[in-house]
Amino acid sequence: MELRAVRGMRDILPPESWDWQWLESRFREIAERYGFAEARTPLLEATPLFVREIGAGTDVVDKEMYSFERHRDQLTVRPEGTAGAARAYVQNAVSGREPVTRWYYVGPMFRAERPAKGRYRQFHQAGCEIYGDEGPLCDAELIALCVDVITALGLDDCRIHLNSLGSGDTRARYRDALTAYFEPRRAELSEVSQRRVHDNPLRILDSKSEADQKVAADAPSVLGLLDDEDRAHFERLQGHLDDLEIPYVVDPTLVRGLDYYTRTLFELKTTTDTLGAQSTLIGGGRYDRMVQSLGHKSPVPAIGFAMGLERLLTLATPPATAPRLACYVAPLRPEAHGVALRVVTRLRRAGHHCELDGRGGSLKAMLRRANGMGGRLCLLIGEDELATGSVTIKDLARHEQQTVTLDDGFVARVQARLDDDDDGSGASGAETAG
Ligand code: HAM
Repeated sequence: MELRAVRGMRDILPPESWDWQWLESRFREIAERYGFAEARTPLLEATPLFVREIGAGTDVVDKEMYSFERHRDQLTVRPEGTAGAARAYVQNAVSGREPVTRWYYVGPMFRAERPAKGRYRQFHQAGCEIYGDEGPLCDAELIALCVDVITALGLDDCRIHLNSLGSGDTRARYRDALTAYFEPRRAELSEVSQRRVHDNPLRILDSKSEADQKVAADAPSVLGLLDDEDRAHFERLQGHLDDLEIPYVVDPTLVRGLDYYTRTLFELKTTTDTLGAQSTLIGGGRYDRMVQSLGHKSPVPAIGFAMGLERLLTLATPPATAPRLACYVAPLRPEAHGVALRVVTRLRRAGHHCELDGRGGSLKAMLRRANGMGGRLCLLIGEDELATGSVTIKDLARHEQQTVTLDDGFVARVQARLDDDDDGSGASGAETAG
């Protein structure tokens, strides 16, 4: 039987992995500019963490978690990063050390969803979480950070959707209001939504079914249920976004699929149809109750977002980021292997990207391989070079060659050649070991 990767999970191999590194470094750079530092939490967490915080009745908990028992522990491979980060925040008593905490993370998440374009079973998120700041200034900062990432990736065709779910019992009152609204029109809803009328009527609002959308169009808006403080928070957030000239739409149908949210909710969606139904690139919101529900002695407000890296990469056009090969080192006979290995090691320790060709073959074959790999210089070591303790440097772009002695100044001479590069792509660095 041929063994293949698990359905919905894919290998990320070179050259594609260069694109991933590019995307992740853009995200890290921008997040660090906003004062976030990286938190790495385990991929496995206790199952009750997700059941309690994400909520029974959500698709993630009911259908999508990879859960199993080992040594009597109920474990789940994380379907998202927020619950695990909050668990770490409480467990490590971080609030005692700093009043406000800003963490980011990048890594794989696992959900047993039906695979489709932009929807995988192992996918990757980059996310940020802020603890200890009730906003709405930091809500606006987070959205600005998302806009900066999207802009850095060259993705202009995005729209920001904004909503508020209020705090206190607003969400519960909204559920009741929706159940009361949908109940008499139950027969018009899709089969899935009919089951949700009592269990999770909020989800009917973001159903993809046309029938559901028709009924949901006249559903009551949550914004009508907000109390004065929640409304003020939401209005101030909008004011800050206006100040930053960040466009958004207030979308009262935005509910998101996880139960932990309070007040601010937001999503960045692409307006292109490349990703079909998977148009949400970034989703986030405030979850002011989670930290205390995880055992912290007092409430700690929190807000965050996560972006789907597969989706961003489908839309972005990454630059070619593979480092250019500086030196292709070609021993022309087996006796030259030892010298070639020392040469390549000196050059690598001085910071140059080098390849060593131990496969042998004719001079022509070696030069063909060096050119094929986009090498800048080919360093040849044959019988004459062995006898004189030297190396012949062939400049592959300029078709010039020069024989240089393998003395203390050798690395500096290679460096000079690379610095002289027409397109300025020569690496730089000083020799630190010979
Ligand atoms: P989420 O909306 O479930 O939120 O996921 C965030 C993003 O992850 C989505 O907008 C999408 O881009 C990507 N994503 C989700 N599922 C998949 C999948 N199966 N395949 C590919 N991409 C996917 C959260 O996970 C929250 N933890 C976000 C958050 C952080 N809220 C507060 N803090």
